[in-house]
Amino acid sequence: MNLRRNDSQRNRTLAPRSSQVATIHAPAKINLFLDVLGRTGDGYHELATLMLPIRWFDSLTFEPLPAENDRPGPFEFAMCGVGLDGNVPEDSRNLVIRALQLLRERNGCDAGARVELVKRIPSGAGLGGGSSDAAAALQLANRGWNLNWPAERLATLAAELGSDVPFFLASGAAICRGRGERIERLPPGRPLDLVIVKPPASLSTADVYRRFDELPVEEGRPRNQVALASLVNDLRQGAVRRMAAWMSNGLQAAAASLSSWIGRLAAAFAELGFAAHQLTGSGAAYFGVCRHAGEARRLAMTLHSRQLGRVFVTRSCG
Ligand code: C5P
Repeated sequence: MNLRRNDSQRNRTLAPRSSQVATIHAPAKINLFLDVLGRTGDGYHELATLMLPIRWFDSLTFEPLPAENDRPGPFEFAMCGVGLDGNVPEDSRNLVIRALQLLRERNGCDAGARVELVKRIPSGAGLGGGSSDAAAALQLANRGWNLNWPAERLATLAAELGSDVPFFLASGAAICRGRGERIERLPPGRPLDLVIVKPPASLSTADVYRRFDELPVEEGRPRNQVALASLVNDLRQGAVRRMAAWMSNGLQAAAASLSSWIGRLAAAFAELGFAAHQLTGSGAAYFGVCRHAGEARRLAMTLHSRQLGRVFVTRSCG
């Protein structure tokens, strides 16, 4: 691939801009519910999960570049932002570049792109930042390269890039099944006030699933149909106090056995009296649901003083 990176431009905006430049603000997500139902036979696991986009965004800016003298147009990629921690690849392993490569390959076009990623969502956190960036890249390229792929075709390609990518192609909460590609969108509910802590150590999704397979099968696993239906209902009604009874994350024990931060976070959130709290995705970020924004700010200040990691106050998208 023809991937250009201009080191002197890494921490500032790429220029010049053309009228075809477009930006998408790509949200993070939390998992209010995640049940691992079994293995799919291809090394993946079958899930039932309820995901909620939150107001914490990476920004992806895309400008199409034409082919050059019978050669495919280049990909110029620059990243900056507080979410960069050394774990986000800047080369063709980055999901944004992989998304653009795959789309170009499947479509048989030869356009390139100048892409700038402002990274705010931490990686290795279970917040879906990389997946959300990839979904944004697919949407921007579909428009910028005038491909006009319908949503279903884009979603099939998105599922090849990662289990969470299809979820981010549309907005709003959803129940995702299979590897994450079978999506049932939910009606909008009252936004939830949230506190999220990203501990200093990150977790790899593959490691957490591997550990999950090594642990004994949990007794009394959540009856996911009942829990999911109740959670959807409580979410729609904004019944924050009832949600704790239905929330769960089947990966939390595996994540906690890999990182002592998870147990420490769980203990701190329980002690502080959050309405509900758990790990998001495969971690390592941990979130708490609050009764109102004032409580979120107050509990965040207390958590900040405990030195458990970076503390964020946010809300789910309405
Ligand atoms: O799909 P994604 O690239 O996010 O997955 C990363 C890794 O997590 C996979 O390679 C797989 O090991 C594991 N995984 C899984 N089952 C899922 C999703 C992810 O086993 N449903």
